[in-house]
This record gives sequence, C-alpha cells and structure tokens, in this order.
Amino acid sequence: MRPPHSLLCEYLVNPQNVDLARPQLSWKLANRSECTCQIGCEVRVAATEKNLRSKRRLVWESGRVRSALTAMRIGFDPAPHSRLWWAVREWGEGEQVSPWSKPAQFSIGFRGGDWPANWIEFPTGPTGQANPARLLRGNFSIIELPRRATIFMTAIGLFEPWLNGQRVGCDFLLPGWTDYSQRIETMAYDVTALVRTGMNRWGAWLGDGWACGRLGFQGRRNFYSAEPALLGVLRLEAEDGSVCWIGTGADWTGWDSPIRSADLYDGECYDARREDPSWCQAGPGYSSGWQPVQLRKERVTAELLGKSSEPVRTVAELSAQSVIQSNTGVWIFDLGQNIAGVVRLRVQAKRGTRLTLRHGEMLRPDGSLYIENLRSARCTDTYICRGGETEIWNPRFTFHGFRYVEISGLKTRPQRDAVTGLVWSSDLADTGGFACSQPLINRLQSNIRWGQIGNFLDVPTDCPQRDERLGWTGDAQVFTPTALFNFAAVPFLRKYCADLRDAQSKDGAFPDVAPDVFAIEARREGRDSVGGNAAWADAGVIIPWALYAETGDKTHLEENFSAMCRWVEYQERTAVNGLRPDTAYGDWVATEAVRADWAPTPSDLIGTAYFARSTVLTARAAEVLGEKRVGKKFRRLHGKILAAFRRGYVAPSGRLVGDTQTAYALALAFDLLPPPMRPAAVRYLLRSIERRGYHLSTGFVGTPLICPVLTAHGQHDLAARLLLNEDYPSWLMPVKNGATTMWERWNSWTPEDGFGPVGMNSFNHYAFGAVGEWLYRDVAGLGQLGVGWKHLHFVPRPAPGLDHAEAWHETPEGRAECGWRRYARGGCDFEFLVPPNSTATATLTVASAGVKMIKPKHAAAARLLEIEPGVVRVEDIGPGRWRFRARGTGY
Ligand code: BGC
Repeated sequence: MRPPHSLLCEYLVNPQNVDLARPQLSWKLANRSECTCQIGCEVRVAATEKNLRSKRRLVWESGRVRSALTAMRIGFDPAPHSRLWWAVREWGEGEQVSPWSKPAQFSIGFRGGDWPANWIEFPTGPTGQANPARLLRGNFSIIELPRRATIFMTAIGLFEPWLNGQRVGCDFLLPGWTDYSQRIETMAYDVTALVRTGMNRWGAWLGDGWACGRLGFQGRRNFYSAEPALLGVLRLEAEDGSVCWIGTGADWTGWDSPIRSADLYDGECYDARREDPSWCQAGPGYSSGWQPVQLRKERVTAELLGKSSEPVRTVAELSAQSVIQSNTGVWIFDLGQNIAGVVRLRVQAKRGTRLTLRHGEMLRPDGSLYIENLRSARCTDTYICRGGETEIWNPRFTFHGFRYVEISGLKTRPQRDAVTGLVWSSDLADTGGFACSQPLINRLQSNIRWGQIGNFLDVPTDCPQRDERLGWTGDAQVFTPTALFNFAAVPFLRKYCADLRDAQSKDGAFPDVAPDVFAIEARREGRDSVGGNAAWADAGVIIPWALYAETGDKTHLEENFSAMCRWVEYQERTAVNGLRPDTAYGDWVATEAVRADWAPTPSDLIGTAYFARSTVLTARAAEVLGEKRVGKKFRRLHGKILAAFRRGYVAPSGRLVGDTQTAYALALAFDLLPPPMRPAAVRYLLRSIERRGYHLSTGFVGTPLICPVLTAHGQHDLAARLLLNEDYPSWLMPVKNGATTMWERWNSWTPEDGFGPVGMNSFNHYAFGAVGEWLYRDVAGLGQLGVGWKHLHFVPRPAPGLDHAEAWHETPEGRAECGWRRYARGGCDFEFLVPPNSTATATLTVASAGVKMIKPKHAAAARLLEIEPGVVRVEDIGPGRWRFRARGTGY
C-alpha cells in the first residue's frame, strides 16, 4: 500500500496563518488495487519535522480511529503562533496499513490575540482623490539569528511587504477585500531566510485599493477609510524558544513613492525616475524626503483573521499575439484572451518618456480600442521612463479586465514582447475539465473557465472591467456549482460566505453585493439599504449548501446556519399571503422582452420559488446538524410556501403565470409542483421553447436551470439542441463571434448590430457560464448521489450532435472521470474512473441488449440490472477504471 497524499489543512496547502480553533486536516488515498476503502486512519502532530519522523515528543496522536472519512479535526487547540507538522496513515480493508504520509505543515496565527504593533498612516494628499501610494519602512537590529522569523501584516488598503531589499511572497492585492469595519484578513510569511544579524529593514508599499479607492458606479471613494493604514508585526523566535516582537509604530517613516496615483478602476501612474532600489535595504538609501508616519487615530475594531483562502497571484503570463498600429504612435497589443490582471511592460526609452496604457476588451470596427463599456472606469496606466537600460514594470495597486492594450508615447514601433499580460486571480488549483467532439463547445468550456479566472479575485465579482466589479450575490449563487467543478474554490467561497454573513442586515436580509458597498452608500445618504432580493440574497443559503454538497463537511452548514435561518424568517415575515413581493431583479437580462407579447417572468414568482428553495435547504441543513425542531418548523413552512405558490401561480392545467421558460424551469427544478402536474408543466415548457424557434428566452435566473430541467424530464435531446444553437440567443453565438470569456448578454456584440448598449455590456461576466455544471453532470454524466463525492452517479447520455463527451473532477477522494464515445459501426463505450474510498452507480441507456463490462483487474464485478426496457443500472462499481461497451445501434 502506498501512503496517503495531498494533505490539506482547512482546505489549504501548508497554510501559515490558521486562526480556527481545531483545524481540520484532510488527505487522499493512493490508488490501489488490493483494497478499496479506508476503514481506519491515524494522525500524528509534532512541533518539528524531526519529532514527527522519529515519533518522539509528539504533540498529539489521534490513535487509530475507525473511520472511512479522509478528514479529521485535530483534538486540541493549538497555541497561537505554534508551527505544527503532521502526517497520516490509513488502514484498508483486510487490515492492511499504509506507510505514513509525507509530512505536511501548518502554522497558527494570532487566534484573536492583540498585535503588539500600532496601525500607521502616511497621508500623501487630500482625502477624496487618488493620491500617491506610500512606501513605509522601519529598522530593527538583531544580535543572533532567530530559528524562525515571521512577518504578520495587513492593511486597510492594499499592501506589498518587503524585507532587506526583497519583496516578501508573490501575492497581489493584499489583504484582499472584506468589510474592513468588521473583519480584516491578515497575511503571515516565513522570513527566516531573509533576516540577518545587525541592521535590518522591513517595509511595505501601501495603496488605496478597495478600502479607500473608488467602488461602485456612483463615482464614490473612501468606503471604509479616509486613509489607508498598515499594521505589521515581526515575530522572532530564538533557538531557546524565547520570542521577540517588533511592530509597526511611530518609529517608522514614509515617502510618497514612485506610484503617483493608483486606483483599482482608474489605473496606476508610475514615475520610474523616482525609483530608489535601496529603499528597503538597511542603511540610508538615496531618496530623501522620508518623514515620520502617523499613528492611526481612528480605532480599528474589526476582527483580524488569518487569510482563509488563497491570495491573488499571477496565475499565468500571456504573450501578445500581435501588435498593430492603430494611429500614429499608437500601438495595440492583442493578448488573444480576455483576462483580469495587469500588463508587464518591457521598454527602453529616453528618461522622462511618458507612456500611456489603455486597456479594453474589444476593438472598434476601425481597429481602435473600444472603451465605452468601461463606463467611468479609466483603466489607464501611465509609466514615466527612468531612461537607460530596458525597464520592466507592472502595476501593483490596480487591475483591469482586458484583452487589448493600447500604448501611446513610444517613438518607435515596439517589439511584440514589450507587453505581456499578467493574469491575476485567486490562486485556485484546477479541479475539473470537460471536453467533447464539438470544438465550439470546448471553446465555451474554456470561456467559462476564463470567466471564473477573471472574476474570482478574492471576491466573486460580476465583471472585472467597468466601474462595478462587485461581489454580486445572484451571479455568484448561480455560478457556484460550476465554479466548484472547475477549480478548488471551497476556501474562496467559504470566505465569501463570511462576507455574506457580515453583510446580512439586522433583520436577516442578505445583500445584493458582498462586501456590501450599497449599504455604505445608503448609510451616507441617510437611506435604508435594500437587500433581500430574490435569487440574489438566496446566495446566503445556496452557497453554503453547495459547499456542503461538494465536501460533505458539515462545518459549512454550521458556520452559516443561523444566518440561513434568519434569512428564511425574514422572508416569512415579509411575505404577503405566502408570496414574495414583486420587487427584485427578476430574470435579469432575459430575452423575453424581444417581442411585445412576451411578458417577463414575474419577479414575485421568482421570489416565491426561491423562498421555497432557501426554506427547504435550510430545513435540510437543520436535519444534517441534528436541529430537529428547526428542521420540522422549516419543513412545515416549506409546505405552506408550496401551497401558496400553487394557489398563486399554477393553473389546474399546469400552466404557470407568465408562461415563461424561466417560470417552468424554476417550478420543475425546485420541485414546486405536485407530481401529477409535472408532465403538463414540461409540455408548456416545450411549447415555450418551440414558440421561440427552439431557443432560450431565459436570463440569469432561468439559464442555469433550463438544460438540467429538460434532461431530468426526459428531454435531453432538446437540451442538447439548445446548447448547440449558434444563433441568437444561445451560448454558442458569442463563441462564434470570437468570445474568449462569457458575455453579459447573448448579443453583447453581433456582426449585424455591433456593440450592445454601453450602459451594461461586459465581455467578462460569468453568470451564463452556469451551464457548465450541466456539461459536467448531464452531458458527460459525472455526478454524485448524496454529498462529498462518496458515492458517484454516472449517467452518460449520448446526445445528438456529439460523438463523444468526457469530464473529470478532482473530488475530495481523488480524481473521478466519466465519458462516452460512439464507435463507428453503432454502439457506444462508457468509461468511468472511480477514486479510492468511493463507490459508484451508473445508469446506462442501452439501446439494445448486451453490455460488455471491462473491469479493473482486482475489482469484484459490478451488478447489472435492467431497470426498465433499454435502461441498465450498474451497481457496486468500486474504485478504478471501468469500461462498458454497449453494442447495437441507436446511439
Ligand atoms: C451586474 C449584474 C448583477 C445585476 C443585478 C449588474 O449591474 O453587472 O451582474 O447581477 O446588476 O441586477
């Protein structure tokens, strides 16, 4: 047996700043043929790697635990700042024991303790405008090298830490975006290798970011603070275990840096003539004008918590595919891919040469940069050359959503490598893929992934380019299941759930955006903020439930349960006769309005459907958590909502008020109709699709549901037809028109009409990409029964128009795969990979009798049952790679 691998602590690889009480450790089992399931496991924790390996002076041992779970909470509260090493071994069936895993490590943060440091500020201009970023620094000296040195740092604003002339870490946009008045995330870096005896210097760049810069479409700034502020602590642990703390304080000095202004929306201006490479090296440095910093007067009451998700990093660097001259002295670089991030510039030009870089997602027909859809976001960087050798630069405190970069100010034609695109995203590992025989759909899948990469920047945003980039809850909610297939997004979305809880109003309404900048705007204007909008606010229930479904970890429900209950109770209180009010966003950007006689889906119907959905999920959460009384209460409430829905919106014929695709999709997806009425509702749905020439008419709310509902009700071929449509409105129309990400509207650009309305026309808006879940689950057939991927359910459905489709997903137990492929003379192959410690069932539509099973060598045969004519259920599929070959025609 091989040892367990892929060890994680709280879903992160070797996290350095864990602030949770009893962190959860998890692992995966190695593939093996001899035994399939973990029947026991043992975890050991030690203070050093050596102790762990020699098994001496262990801090904690779980002993052998009888469990099939590949996750365990440690059984003690680690002390703040402890560094711990751990390893795990497992027992398989037949009592065989694996070797111990390779050690993994995690470190504990302050755990709520006080930071021995002061918040410092260094104003560089009047509040209310984009001022120069600050460089801040402090000195310290040490006599003996510590055995361990750690920098803890955070900001109200954005920071980049430095020590002894070197940048610390490779993260951007730190500490990320939270409601800084409630919760500020902090970073920890091991800097043992960077400190030296004698004089040392540490420091940071400090910019405005989300805390002090622009946010929202009303042109406002300073949502959380008038001035950015920095807080840092250096913890030096000597060989004898004694600890010395050095904190930011009045002895620090500041300077108004080469960054002359920086704003997330507007861009960064960098004057390289002001650069002082020695600014953070011990010694005087040559820049003058360093002044004492100020201690922050305003008290910071927010909770400080170690960052709980991966920070933003450069996840890829893209070369420009072409450079064209769009006007005299104006050059446009095409990265070939719409991204969020910044440019890395490589230029050689005379000192003082001023280069202007504008960013855009599209080009106008005349080849110039299209910037109208950015609305008031300037998205413009300026670089003033130092002169001399080649200069390499990228901005720090801004980001743009762009594919094209326009440079002006150069005297000569730039080389193609003068510009590369740094793709910035929360650094999440790939956990899924989908591919099929239709190249346009493969491009769609790629666009969905790029939509996620571009919009998962610490917060799931609607778009990364215009004056918005907000954590819109509805968009995040519909996209979450797809997001969890594509990337290891659990800690990212768990952090977003904390943002949602912070933003929940006192009366229980979840907001439209989290962090909730609209509430801050409302407060400033003396108005009440309005949240609680259907399908948007429900993110506060649906995302925690999706995290539980993906991981099987009840913690996600525990953390959110009381907030979920409060949202359901809020809806109950404010419902009228069991129906939700007609106030919300409705089926955002649905195409119903294209014909005057097509009415949009009533937003109270959407609201009531979601009221039912949130209520039943909260009831189920209560049942999982053993909260029986609450579970019963919400089950009863759910029954009442169903009755009200049926009274309010459903005719005896099964026709729904509004008669829209979205109305039927909601009613069927959320199980709102009595079973005998479902076939009629499906018929109405089909009629509505047929009336629209076999096209979608759905918006953000209906689009994610329509194909899953059709598939679930025996209409997979029609769902495939909708997917394969290439004309308006369809998923493939943007693809055919050159999209490299998801668009906000089906027709954000068309060859006939050009650009859509500039008021709302993003070319990187992931919401319609929510179809991704269906591609994985229903087109390839990779799904699960229950939660946590313990039991997989493969339902491959050969669809018209496709010859093969396959998907993979890195589940908590390991890699799972499901695919099907027609072969030339009729017949079809189905191929499955089941990870260790999981089992699977498959449902195969087998057109004619005769399925040949090719099983993994040591596995016991699976059971084949014909459950109805032409449908074979395969049970007891154990770990390993399986193939089922179905002969005959009809595929
Ligand atoms: C955003 C959307 C969001 C919507 C809500 C838009 O401005 O870009 O994605 O969900 O507003 O109505």
